Amino acid sequence: MNVLVIGSGGREHAMAWKLAQSDKVQVVYVAPGNGAMGSSGRIRRLPITDILELRHWVQTNKIGLTVVGPEAPLAAGIVDAFRQSGLRIFGPTRAAAQLESSKAFSKAFMQRHGIPTAAFEVFTEAAAAKAYVQNVGVPIVIKADGLAAGKGVVVATSLEQAYAAVDFMLQVKGAGVTHNAGDDGQAVPRVVIEEFLQGEEASFIVMCDGKEVVPLAPSQDHKRLQDGDMGPNTGGMGAYSPAPVVTPQVHARAMREIILPTLKAMEQEGNPYTGFLYAGLMVTPAGQVKTLEFNCRMGDPETQPVLMRLKSDFYDVLMAATELGGLEHVELDWDRRAALGVVLVAHGYPADPRKGDAITGLPVDGDNSMVFHAGTEHSNGALRTSGGRVLCVTALGDSVRAARLLAYETLSGIRFDGMQYRTDIGHRAVVRS
Ligand code: AMP
Ligand code: GLY
Repeated sequence: MNVLVIGSGGREHAMAWKLAQSDKVQVVYVAPGNGAMGSSGRIRRLPITDILELRHWVQTNKIGLTVVGPEAPLAAGIVDAFRQSGLRIFGPTRAAAQLESSKAFSKAFMQRHGIPTAAFEVFTEAAAAKAYVQNVGVPIVIKADGLAAGKGVVVATSLEQAYAAVDFMLQVKGAGVTHNAGDDGQAVPRVVIEEFLQGEEASFIVMCDGKEVVPLAPSQDHKRLQDGDMGPNTGGMGAYSPAPVVTPQVHARAMREIILPTLKAMEQEGNPYTGFLYAGLMVTPAGQVKTLEFNCRMGDPETQPVLMRLKSDFYDVLMAATELGGLEHVELDWDRRAALGVVLVAHGYPADPRKGDAITGLPVDGDNSMVFHAGTEHSNGALRTSGGRVLCVTALGDSVRAARLLAYETLSGIRFDGMQYRTDIGHRAVVRS
């Protein structure tokens, strides 16, 4: 069978790599893919992004399974479009993907169903939003309702910063905020202002077939650009799995208090959830578990270490997950070792990443180390940077510490102008061990 992965990042490279290990899979196409993929071999690049063109290509080329990496095509309705034509695809419908694409939707949903999350209010007017901020005080968290290319969440530590975030997110157009539409179909600028939660974060990702649910191994991401969790927020600078903060108790609470009620409520509301569901958890010092956010996809870079630990056949798992109830008897088999990925990012990332820097010194991939590509392209006779996050160097080891050592050793020969990375990925887990 030939399969298709939608997306172009490190997450999609890892998914394709894992799918290609199945002896039932001949060729994995990745659309639009990146510089790790060529026009031949088991993992191939497909330069198409338009949903209807993709659907047509899948029909003509008899692709048996499609899995979607990023959120944008999900929010644009790729799953609805494929299912209308009877095609097998793993992901949520456009309506279900609102759990990620609209913060106002997901916060109201959690409130309605008693799913633990930070207290919040939604505003459309800057003056009212600022008055609320002033009343509550800082630290406080300001979130754009729509998609804002990584600028959608500001943890404000001063009132000025909070007011600036409100103004930025409520501007009618420009500067990269795409507002969600209101009932009349017109875009409405909206902000969610929420209580600042203290604790340690974890990425808790499950697979849902519309009825049954199977959790993936928990992981932890590093969102800030610089060591010691300093600097601006990014898409993610590194991740590891397992995450010791997710103790068996935390795991049980996350399933019982967040995941299962969410899936049940989605079904009750006529929106049964299929696909990966990612709950960003805040584990409070008292051991409570709160939902920071939902994503309707796997995380990037969490996917890279998580899939390195997956021993089950990913193709079989996805085939089961695309049947209603198909996950009932699926149990995932995990490597007991830890995996850790370090993201190498471009000059100027995250604000203004530079493209076109030549990349040298890529190591040979081994059983215990992999270099997953994200923003890479072949041009002018070299592999070059073509996006903010460039590579994710991922390794397995007997402990997070050992995986970390091997990941840093593996990346030590890689060079490109302006390359940045954190040197402390996994620090919380290493301190605990
Ligand atoms: P989100 O996209 O909602 O997960 O927010 C991005 C990041 O902002 C999270 O990973 C947290 O580090 C931080 N954050 C979001 N909401 C809160 C909150 N209520 N309290 C503390 N930190 C938060
Ligand atoms: N690494 C965080 C995310 O994928 O949203």
